[in-house]
Amino acid sequence: MQLAERINAIAVSPTLAVMAEAERYKARGIDVVDFGPGEPDFPTPDNIKRAGVAAIEQNFTKYTPTAGIAPLRKAICEWHAAQFGSKYAPSECIVSVGGKHAIFNAVNVLINPGDEVLIPVPYWVSFPDIVKYAGGRPEFIRTEVKDGFRLRASQVEQVVGPRTRILILNSPCNPTGAVVPPDEFVRILEVCMRRNIWLLSDECYSHFTYGDARPFSIAGMAGAKEHVITIGSLSKTFSMTGWRVGYALAPEALVDAMLKLQSQSTSNPTSIAQHAALAALKGPMDSVRAMLAEYAKRRERILAGMRAIRGITCAEPQGAFYVFPNFDALLGNGIQNTTDLAKQLLEREHIAVVPGEAFGAPGYLRFSYATSMERIEEGLKRLGRFFQAASAAQ
Ligand SMILES: Cc1ncc(COP(=O)(O)O)c(C=O)c1O
Repeated sequence: MQLAERINAIAVSPTLAVMAEAERYKARGIDVVDFGPGEPDFPTPDNIKRAGVAAIEQNFTKYTPTAGIAPLRKAICEWHAAQFGSKYAPSECIVSVGGKHAIFNAVNVLINPGDEVLIPVPYWVSFPDIVKYAGGRPEFIRTEVKDGFRLRASQVEQVVGPRTRILILNSPCNPTGAVVPPDEFVRILEVCMRRNIWLLSDECYSHFTYGDARPFSIAGMAGAKEHVITIGSLSKTFSMTGWRVGYALAPEALVDAMLKLQSQSTSNPTSIAQHAALAALKGPMDSVRAMLAEYAKRRERILAGMRAIRGITCAEPQGAFYVFPNFDALLGNGIQNTTDLAKQLLEREHIAVVPGEAFGAPGYLRFSYATSMERIEEGLKRLGRFFQAASAAQ
């Protein structure tokens, strides 16, 4: 079939492909330890679910304004201000069908063919393909494991060119869990201001930080607003992945352009989900704190478990709910690369993980610890057994 060149330039999200493969195993009755999902394993909190049900019962089931209902746009601005000290007006906010949609819209209204977008590596799988679909060119900046995969302003300075339009920065990062410290974030913003490029700050994991790291938004810094596109999502923070609510906060002219695109594609995000999102942002943050406490325990356990297996090295993630260990020392002997390793782990030990190749980082595997402690223990046991068998076979 003859398809448009722009669709042939991109691929189905590799993380979704791993989930699909793991599902096929599960459908055959196989007990898979699934470290694949990039979504919380907790149910959506009750107050949010009740608001969704009430929205249906009260017949909030019609089209809404494309940019979202007015109370929700206001609530997003107020919540963001309370959490991070930003000062956005509702006219600078657009509600979208998840954070991914907000990123897609922002990139598509800013990029001309051949424009460049800076993307730190390892990256979330969708960033390069969204840029390519918009006709842009991803320019990669490799972050170093010795820096804990944290981007540095000096690295940005080195690669900005005349066609650079946007730097996409995702902190806490999927897949590495890296958190850019506020002072470095400010230095990165200064580079973006000086070189006149947008800083697209993907804050989807903002509230999942550990150790010394704290939730932070560059949009809270004085003078930042005119240069920053803030992308947020209720998916991870409130365990609402399926509801599909995210947002962008940006200068009004940019929001208006995104609105135009959204009005000709999805129209408004689901009305019911918007009412649920309103309850989430206006309600207590207890459920977020409870999830964080549980993730913190799991993070400790999985990190210790990984490090106990000879040959695996693992940087300490400061945020999100992933660990991103390196397996270079364990490759060879029939395991060519980490795509191969992921395949063999699924086939032989029924462990589902996403290979680092999907994130531009061969040699690594991403393990999501958005799964129970019991499953983490089982997975670590199987992982240890896999490499024991592999070394015995040598
Ligand atoms: C880094 C990052 N940004 C954005 C998203 C988008 O999430 P959603 O579209 O569910 O809001 C994800 C989801 O996995 C993500 O990992």
